[in-house]
Amino acid sequence: MHKVTLIPGDGIGPEISAAVRDIFAAAGAPVVWEVHHAGQGGIDRHGDPLPEATLASIMGNRVALKGPLTTQVGEGYRSINVTLRQTLDLYCNLRPVKSLPGVRSRYEGIDLVIFRENTEDLYAGVEHRVGRHAAEAVKIITKEASVRIAQAAFDYAARHGRKRVTAVHKANIMKLSDGLFLASAREVATFNPDIRYDEVIVDNLCMQLVLRPEEYDILLAPNLYGDIISDLCAGLVGGLGVVPGANIGEGGAVFEAVHGTAPDIAGKDAANPAALLLSAVMMLEYLGESGAAARIRAALEAVLAEGRTVTPDLGGSATTTEMTAAIIRKL
Ligand code: NAI
Repeated sequence: MHKVTLIPGDGIGPEISAAVRDIFAAAGAPVVWEVHHAGQGGIDRHGDPLPEATLASIMGNRVALKGPLTTQVGEGYRSINVTLRQTLDLYCNLRPVKSLPGVRSRYEGIDLVIFRENTEDLYAGVEHRVGRHAAEAVKIITKEASVRIAQAAFDYAARHGRKRVTAVHKANIMKLSDGLFLASAREVATFNPDIRYDEVIVDNLCMQLVLRPEEYDILLAPNLYGDIISDLCAGLVGGLGVVPGANIGEGGAVFEAVHGTAPDIAGKDAANPAALLLSAVMMLEYLGESGAAARIRAALEAVLAEGRTVTPDLGGSATTTEMTAAIIRKL
């Protein structure tokens, strides 16, 4: 049995994490959940968006599944997601983006994997006011962080039989910072001659992804571009409700859906549990439980392919509870 920290999350978080727990139990997945709270849930229960006990549990178990957390825009506490990534040094944000059977989208046959550097860039949080009418944010890029995310991308390519890694940048403008990111990626590429390496400017990539997304394989990006293209890529395969994600470091991993707390549908039993479930499946693979992972993925894909018992975001009229029950029936 693997002990895993579960942070149900805010908004739709409790509904979709309950769905994952029910499906794991039905599949006999060898996981024991240790439930802790963060975000608004942490404030409500412990007066702290990231309670000590939550952090201690993740550090002890080294693996966590996390529902979405509320982040206040422009004020309030710092993003817990960013704090967790930096505190635990989860430097690699891994997002597989794959067309799913039965999920309607404008494209078919998409199978992209995004490696986003997770600890620095403009997300380092170095920001200050300059007088009353200006503000400044510092973009930090280091060779160490750039090399290790590039290494993670090439290692993944080698392990999964992938053919190509494309580095994403804007080094024509940010010659020093993005230039260093590129130089680091090139250095790692020279040690991996079997994998094709190329580079693309981020604005051009956005156009190419809309025109010819099936041509890309692994995308390697600094934090901010990685964040933006991740959502763009989610849109290519049917939206935020079906894309999983993981934050991985040497000492552990936190798995989470790419979407947020969806306040517009929270509490209405209308949220699509697929993205958190696919993140939980990635977690099982990370834990070496590939059998349970494959069973759950197949059950979900069967329900999606039939398209009869899916939530409104996928064009259906099922509730979260009904879609969960349908997945369990397929197991
Ligand atoms: P959002 O992802 O919560 O919602 C965007 C749209 O997608 C909404 O219409 C929502 O109903 C829909 N949606 C999202 N997930 C869905 C699901 N599983 N099933 C069906 N529909 C779904 O993004 P938004 O509105 O920008 O952010 C809301 C809150 O979530 C904010 O406080 C934000 O900071 C936070 N957030 C947290 C993240 C995390 O914890 N990883 C990631 C992104 C946002």
